Order: sequence, then structure tokens, then C-alpha cells
Amino acid sequence: MPDRGIANRLVVLISGNGRNLQGMIDAVAAGRLSAELVHVFCDRQNAAGLTRAWRAGIPTTIVSRRDHESRAAFDRALARRIVAERPDWIALAGFMRILSSEFVQQFAGKLLNIHPSLLPKYKGLDTHSRVLKSGDPRHGATVHFVSDDLDGGPPVLSGSVAVREDDDAATLSDRVMRRVEVHIYPRVLEWAAQGRLALRDQSVFLDGEPLASPLHESFDDDQ
Ligand code: GRF
Repeated sequence: MPDRGIANRLVVLISGNGRNLQGMIDAVAAGRLSAELVHVFCDRQNAAGLTRAWRAGIPTTIVSRRDHESRAAFDRALARRIVAERPDWIALAGFMRILSSEFVQQFAGKLLNIHPSLLPKYKGLDTHSRVLKSGDPRHGATVHFVSDDLDGGPPVLSGSVAVREDDDAATLSDRVMRRVEVHIYPRVLEWAAQGRLALRDQSVFLDGEPLASPLHESFDDDQ
């Protein structure tokens, strides 16, 4: 792929299904994301997302925690391999390992994540069931910079859908993925690839202006 952007080498870290990765692959194919998906790293041998990468011709490497004697050694090995790819941006997309402070500092300002909730609500796991339990009228996902605070780094863009009366955790999670996640992550990554997005002193800048609050989009015509 020609080098079109100024910051377009994108590395993606996955652990599982890889639907967000697929969203990025599709966005590149559709011309909505001018990034080059240079490498996918995965910590699980049988992750379905690996097949998505292979089909798209993206090189993959499995870096398994079991092959390293400590969490710190795993993080260092992963960091070394990531650096070798010379990424401009690193997207965590369902990567299920908590990264050390050292790792986060090393890639500060170029490390993004997507979390399936309207942050700062529902950090952590099982977000969809927790939303249903609380009776929230809306739910969604947030793309944010990664900091030491788990799911607490500076948010960039969130997207939401209405919670339906007949939703269960599976239907809600599926709708958030299809209607929100696969749209907002490529959008933020495109800003990143175009050099429009930056993190300075833990504040998010878009087009040189600090974001007073995270951007939000409602996906209300959802199916
Ligand atoms: C997504 O819901 C993402 O927000 C969360 O983990 C899930 C990963 O799904 N961090 P997939 O691997 O992209 O299908």
C-alpha cells in the first residue's frame, strides 16, 4: 500500500474474535481509513481474529504470556516486537491483557483502546449485563487513549444506541459492536493517521484544539 498519510503505520493487538480488527480492515478497503495495517499481535493461539488478519494478508505474531517467565518479561518482549514494526499508532482491539505501566509509558500518546461502555461508566468487564441491571436507557462504546488507569485514559469519541426492553446481554453486546464499535474505532484511527489527533499532558487534541469533552455520536436508527 502506498504511504499516503503522515502517521499511517498501524499495529493492532487482539486476543479474541477480532470484530474491531475486521472493522479496520473493512474501513481500509472502503477508503475510510488511510492506515496501513502493518502487523497484528495476538496473545492467544486460537483467536478467531487471527484468521481475519490472514485473510486480509496482514502479518501476525503470537506472543503468549505462557512463553515468558513474568508479566514484565512478556510486556518487554511484546514491546520489542512492536517497536520493530515502527508503528505510528497502536490499537488495542479486544486485547485482554493488562499492560504494565512501563509499556504504557513507552507508547504514550500512540496507544488507543476501545471499551464497550460509555466511559467513565462501567470500566472493567461484563459491561453489557451491568448496564441492563442498572436500567440505563443508552449504552455504547468509547475509544480512548490508554493510561495507567485501566479503562480510564483520556476519551476521544464515544457512540451510543438505545437499550431495548427485550435486550439481553448478548443482543445488546452484538448491537453495540455492529452499530457503534466498528464505526467509531476506524473514525478515530483515521484522525490519527491524518495527524489530526494528539495527546498532550493527558489532554486530547483534535486539529490542534483541545477537546473540552469527548466527542459523542448517537446511532439511533439502529436495527
Ligand atoms: C469489544 O467489545 C471491545 O470493545 C472490547 O473487547 C471486545 C473485543 O471484541 N475491548 P472483538 O475481538 O473486536 O470482536
